Amino acid sequence: MIFDRVKPLDAILAAAQRKSLHRSLGALQLMLFGIGCIIGTGIFVLTAAGAQKAGPGLMLAFVIAGAVCVVAALCYAEIASMIPVAGSAYTYSYATVGELVAWTVGWALILEYAIAASAVSVGWSGYFSGTILNEFLGIELPRWLSAGPLVLGGEAGGLINLPAMVIALLITWLLMIGTSESAKVNAFLVAIKVTALTAFIGLTLTSAYFDPDKFNPFLPAGLFGGFGSGVGAVGAAATIFFAYVGFDAVSTAAEETKNPQRNVPIGLVGSLIFCTVFYILVAAGAIGTIGGQPIMGPGNIPFPAGSEELARQCALPEHVEALVCSNEALAHVLRQIGFSGIGNVLGVAAFLALPSVILVLLFAQTRIFFVMSRDGLLPDGLSKVHPRWKTPYVVTAITGVIVAIGAAFFPVGQLADIANAGTLYAFLMVAVAVMVLRRTAPERKRDFRTPILWLVGPATIFGCASLFLNLPSAAMLVLPVWSLIGLLVYFGYSRSHSRLGQGIVEVADDVLGEETAVPIHSDR
Ligand code: ALA
Repeated sequence: MIFDRVKPLDAILAAAQRKSLHRSLGALQLMLFGIGCIIGTGIFVLTAAGAQKAGPGLMLAFVIAGAVCVVAALCYAEIASMIPVAGSAYTYSYATVGELVAWTVGWALILEYAIAASAVSVGWSGYFSGTILNEFLGIELPRWLSAGPLVLGGEAGGLINLPAMVIALLITWLLMIGTSESAKVNAFLVAIKVTALTAFIGLTLTSAYFDPDKFNPFLPAGLFGGFGSGVGAVGAAATIFFAYVGFDAVSTAAEETKNPQRNVPIGLVGSLIFCTVFYILVAAGAIGTIGGQPIMGPGNIPFPAGSEELARQCALPEHVEALVCSNEALAHVLRQIGFSGIGNVLGVAAFLALPSVILVLLFAQTRIFFVMSRDGLLPDGLSKVHPRWKTPYVVTAITGVIVAIGAAFFPVGQLADIANAGTLYAFLMVAVAVMVLRRTAPERKRDFRTPILWLVGPATIFGCASLFLNLPSAAMLVLPVWSLIGLLVYFGYSRSHSRLGQGIVEVADDVLGEETAVPIHSDR
């Protein structure tokens, strides 16, 4: 049987108990942590790609994507409070639906974290080139150095995105030598981001340029653009779903939370609702002032975001100032409405704050690889810990190089779409795992129980599947192709090397090597 390897929950829980972290986090700290992971390239950059897909319907797209994330978050909260160990959706699946599915989830999480880190690097590059190089230093980076050449199903017209590649490698280096973000730095960066967005909202919504007519037509590409088209309000929701990715990090802090039954859902749902309201207001401000209608191609369908055709259109004098053409959407809006100085300050805020999102995503990726390697599904060498830096430097370096390659060669919108495909699959499996556990382990202690799970669980599955089907078909296809490669690796290597397959149940919950890993040998 290929579905027979399910990690015993007891072993995982025993390890978690031994770790027994001090419960110190309150709801506010959780929310700050969540907002720190959430706000990034999605709102600062993808606003342009979202508008190109849906026009003013982008505001509705933020509501749809936010709603899917809220129900997914409620599922995450239950399982994280029950199985509070590293590895996130991968570990949850291992304990419920077994090794094979867990492998596919872990494999899909590579898309979530590594490719998302590439996307945020490209987003950062837009602000670095636009604000720091262009506005402050007067240097115009040519397109061949500031955009990758590739876009699935076409060309993007650049050669290499040098700044994106460099920032990805720089953050990798910081992680290798053991940098992690302190709560204080996180709170500071959250303050910068929230202040920048608040200023943006205040200035745009009260601007003389604000004109309700700019919201007409509200849905120029329709509500549904059609499965695989990636346009329309739901198509835009599938892309700007990226703006919410990262909230799952909050769920992993369940074990360190005071009164988790109350605080974990407040932290998760609170940070999501906070961001959703902000995002809608930002979209309203951007569209209401400079307009956000898509540039239409043949058949009155918007040109694909990130494509060479769109880049060509954007070079035309009538489009050069369009929201959908900007690589630094929010700073661009402020400059257009007479606040160049504040636009530049917002650009600096993005320049400072986005690297921390890259750091969190890369860190999460190395954790997942680390746990998978400890489980024997990936080669042992990957989980080697550096004697001095005390970090899993091998896996960090490999991940960093992959992230840098993605960032160097692909456009931000497409990277975000691919990351979303993997994330949606992982979220869907978390909802499945929560429902399976309610049936198979009803008596287990749960610090938090998802309210009305039999509605929230299926809603999560439906929401994730719907968003997935509304991604552009090229990005959608990446998941099955990627999974197929994953299955080849699984059956070619991982299955025969699996610790669980060899009868060893090992739960590694920290990268600091043998002292903190908790090996439990079962007699299976
Ligand atoms: N949600 C994060 C961002 O938008 C990944 O950058």
